[in-house]
Amino acid sequence: MDWGMKNRMARIINPDTGRAVMVAFDHGYFLGPTHKLEVPRQTITPLLPYADTIMLTRGVLRSSVDPESRANVVLRVSGGSSIVGPDLSDEGLTTSFRDAIRLNVAGVGISVFVGSEHERQTLLNLAELVDKGEEYGIPVLGITAVGKELEKRDARYLSLCCRICAELGTHIVKTYYCEDFEKVTASCPAPIVIAGGPKLETEMDVFDMTYNAIQQGAVGVDMGRNIWQNDHPVAVIRAIRSIVHENLKPKQAHDLFLGLKNEESKKVAGV
Ligand code: R5P
Repeated sequence: MDWGMKNRMARIINPDTGRAVMVAFDHGYFLGPTHKLEVPRQTITPLLPYADTIMLTRGVLRSSVDPESRANVVLRVSGGSSIVGPDLSDEGLTTSFRDAIRLNVAGVGISVFVGSEHERQTLLNLAELVDKGEEYGIPVLGITAVGKELEKRDARYLSLCCRICAELGTHIVKTYYCEDFEKVTASCPAPIVIAGGPKLETEMDVFDMTYNAIQQGAVGVDMGRNIWQNDHPVAVIRAIRSIVHENLKPKQAHDLFLGLKNEESKKVAGV
């Protein structure tokens, strides 16, 4: 691996722990003004100190993140469909490599829709991106998207998707956590991070999922809604960091979350 690629990989996966805390803010690229991400700057700014990398589109990056923040960015470069359109899987590349380089990204991210009508097109998009990534030393995050079909998220399907991403040269794969997740990680030669999916019922559910994913071979998270749709997003991300980078158990992370949440509430109340 050349210096640039190694350096960028180290901006995403911390070489000291071998783990990654990525926070995803890219939902608007097909969902529009997602709940709690209506004004991106307000949601993103408080989380920046705790995210190893942020994942978002160039529009939100330029409009809502200060370049002086020194945030490490994984740029979402696929899109072209929307939640109200006929088919979410009908994606193309939305951003040139030239612009990604101008934005000094740590990596670029693209969705693939395996088993969909646009399987071939999205996989070839990924392969094209990997070619360019190798040329310029920029890692590619391959995202195993399921569109509206959340029920697809089982070990058999996700193993297939992750392995295909890895075979096509993806440097990091982003997928969902599922039952028998160790089967997904065991058969994927590229490092895996998990998305959070729709907001879970309790914080403990989020910490359990994070812990289990790490125990079963994930290198970290690339999570969105379960962090910033929570009323205490900073407390949640700090608890997640403690699991990912410091190996805390879910219960310990939950205690940390409660402590931080109480401190925050006291500050707000002026106590
Ligand atoms: C899809 O919208 C994006 O790839 C998200 O970045 C991904 O789903 C992670 O966000 P969440 O944890 O909210 O699912």
